[in-house]
Amino acid sequence: MRFSFVSLVVLLAAGAAWAQAVAPAAPPVPERTPLQAHLTGPIPPLVKVEIVGNTIPQPLTQQPGDPARGRRVIADASNSTCLICHEVPALAELPDQGKIAPPLEGLGSRYTAAELRLRLVNAKLITPDTMMPAYYRTEGLTRVQPQFAGRTIYSAQDIEDAIAFLLTIK
Ligand code: HEC
Repeated sequence: MRFSFVSLVVLLAAGAAWAQAVAPAAPPVPERTPLQAHLTGPIPPLVKVEIVGNTIPQPLTQQPGDPARGRRVIADASNSTCLICHEVPALAELPDQGKIAPPLEGLGSRYTAAELRLRLVNAKLITPDTMMPAYYRTEGLTRVQPQFAGRTIYSAQDIEDAIAFLLTIK
């Protein structure tokens, strides 16, 4: 009895080690940004945007968009919901990508920064009945959790960094 119990334990341990040895390596997941600073503490002032046609020509910040940070902003499941709806082949390492909106492909070839800026700030101004959330808007939202009242989903810099990343998707 004792012998068989020990054998079983040894066999199980060996099995686990074998499974670990043959299991395919998990794909690398990009670094997740911590919950964005603009969602806690003092509410940052809302940058006024000027809409010209289907665009917002002026960047929301002085600091130019950083595509590497933008990639992390978009990949960050704690605050970015893009992947719930869109497939993003440029982030192929992330699992469970959405299929209910067009895949985010060829954006850098089809859009300017000014067009993507309006799309991210408030896509409803382009397609009034779109499901896509307005990422830089505080008015006219419904069912906002009290701790997020007056706050935008993305900070102004997140918007600029996200645009810089999306433009790299040719
Ligand atoms: C709730 C679903 C949803 C979420 C979340 C969402 N989108 Fe969208 N998005 C859509 C839909 C639907 C469209 C198609 C056009 C429309 O309805 O406005 C779209 C269109 C777009 C387009 C134009 C695509 C093209 O090929 O012309 C871009 C760019 C885009 N979204 C970027 C984003 C980014 C970046 C995020 C995250 C910051 C995001 N979307 C989050 C639903 C979503």
